[in-house]
Amino acid sequence: MAKISILGFGTIGQGLAEVIAQNAEVVRRQCGEPIEIAHVLDLREFPDHPLGGLVTHDFNDVLNDPEVSVVVEMMGGSHPAYDFSLAALKAGKNVVTSNKEVVANFGPELLAEAKKKGLRYLFEASVGGGIPIIRAMTSSLAGNEIVEVNGILNGTTNYILTEMKEKGRTMQEALATAQELGYAERDPSADIDGLDAARKICILNALAFGVMIPVDRVDVTGIRDMSLDEILDAEKSGQTVKLIAHAGKKADGSPDLWVRPTRLDKSSPLASVSGVFNAILVRGRSLGDVMFYGAGAGSLPTASAVLADVIDIVRCGDKQPAQQQWRRADA
Ligand code: HSE
Repeated sequence: MAKISILGFGTIGQGLAEVIAQNAEVVRRQCGEPIEIAHVLDLREFPDHPLGGLVTHDFNDVLNDPEVSVVVEMMGGSHPAYDFSLAALKAGKNVVTSNKEVVANFGPELLAEAKKKGLRYLFEASVGGGIPIIRAMTSSLAGNEIVEVNGILNGTTNYILTEMKEKGRTMQEALATAQELGYAERDPSADIDGLDAARKICILNALAFGVMIPVDRVDVTGIRDMSLDEILDAEKSGQTVKLIAHAGKKADGSPDLWVRPTRLDKSSPLASVSGVFNAILVRGRSLGDVMFYGAGAGSLPTASAVLADVIDIVRCGDKQPAQQQWRRADA
């Protein structure tokens, strides 16, 4: 029996409890043993939830439980999520996260700490929700020099742009529906101003090139000011507007990172990606283009990526493989 603790019992945390329960047999087959949730750390109580009895408000309960081998951080925000993740690694526990803010801001330090301890810090759900892009870039594409990455990395804005195009809605009307459906971040400005996509492209850039560029160095334009007229005008020209995140190199070899609404010809593989779906087009020097497509947000798709990381760790037991290390960009 592998014991895990959940930090943060919001949409993804509750989704993780659900996918573990739904897939109990699959988990047992994949891991060779069941996974049990030992603690749920949250500021709130959940009296009506089947796991309500596991709720604690004290992180020390997690840290001091020697049976917990994996801590799953789904709190959102940088602090205390980073501090708890670092403390868990220092205490000898593997850490899994869906928190792109922490990976983008502190990935190099957390990966270094995991390496020092012979543990792992895994973050499949931090980019592309349920799409297996992180593992693909770290394993399947490891034999390729990555030339560039272009992606639709934010489900909320892709949903909004699709609603505007197909139903003639304004940005604000479509945003309200995205929030009702639970796609948008707590503060939707992170979605519509492009910060969420910027964090994700920083993570993909680090996987591709080994360097974590600070998010504030990404050239970002969101969709806050996108008018219906612009969307319809693009359509008349046989194009579609998508919020594209790009990571590559400039001609002088320096990093080229941007997020911006971009007119794509309908023949582009990214042009037909609609609704909350995400897609990531990776260009490898040897492989050429490969595209990853799927549910980029939402409770169960994202939780399934979190669970895959947990299963990976449980399977490896005390022989956790070493991970890629990232350096920070020079100031
Ligand atoms: N708000 C994010 C999105 C959630 O819409 O893509 C998944 O990271």
